[in-house]
Amino acid sequence: MKPPEIISTVRLILRKPSMDDAPAVFAGWVQDSEVTYFLTWLPHKNIGQTESMLTRAIAAWDGDSRFPYMITLKESGTVIGMIDPQIEGHKIAIGYVMNKDYQGKGYMTEATRAIIDWAFGQQSIYRVYATTDVENFASQRVLEKAGMQREGLLRKYIVHPNISDVPRDSYMYAIVK
Ligand SMILES: CC(C)(COP(=O)(O)OP(=O)(O)OC[C@H]1O[C@@H](n2cnc3c(N)ncnc32)[C@H](O)[C@@H]1OP(=O)(O)O)[C@@H](O)C(=O)NCCC(=O)NCCS
Repeated sequence: MKPPEIISTVRLILRKPSMDDAPAVFAGWVQDSEVTYFLTWLPHKNIGQTESMLTRAIAAWDGDSRFPYMITLKESGTVIGMIDPQIEGHKIAIGYVMNKDYQGKGYMTEATRAIIDWAFGQQSIYRVYATTDVENFASQRVLEKAGMQREGLLRKYIVHPNISDVPRDSYMYAIVK
């Protein structure tokens, strides 16, 4: 199963990444220590790291489990973030990140709903989920607005290296059909 390379919403186009996105991604969020605070990677120090990340993201589309999308504004084509659905049997896990300049406008909720809509159109998918740090209130809100329920606390679940090397607690959010 492969999701479409382009998903259109009211205000957004989600599309497969390209190496041409590197300057926008590098300038947009990957160097930003606030945006990367709750992520599993450290801020990029040079565009080469961004190019490597995009090389992996593009290559992932040749496989059968991970399909990272660039999130772009429909009107201008501006690259504003990424959303990364990962297929795990009957489940799909979602991760995402948004340029700070475009946060708080409902864009990630719109992108997340689009992935959920596609996922539940697939006969074999029954669950879409995400985990998020217990202090990542913006992400928790996105998942709730996208219709997910908080199912539980995952203690000492994941290391967020921008915070500490000690594994941190996360919440599990999911929506099922
Ligand atoms: C989480 C993230 C993707 C949200 O993107 P976004 O486009 O701003 O999301 P939306 O605009 O759809 O919704 C954000 C919601 O969080 C709320 N919010 C933002 N900061 C908040 C905070 N500190 N406490 C509580 N709610 C907060 C907003 O008010 C909004 O809710 P509302 O519509 O009810 O007002 C973005 O903040 C981000 O990239 N964060 C850094 C990366 C990250 O944490 N990724 C997720 C890892 S699990």
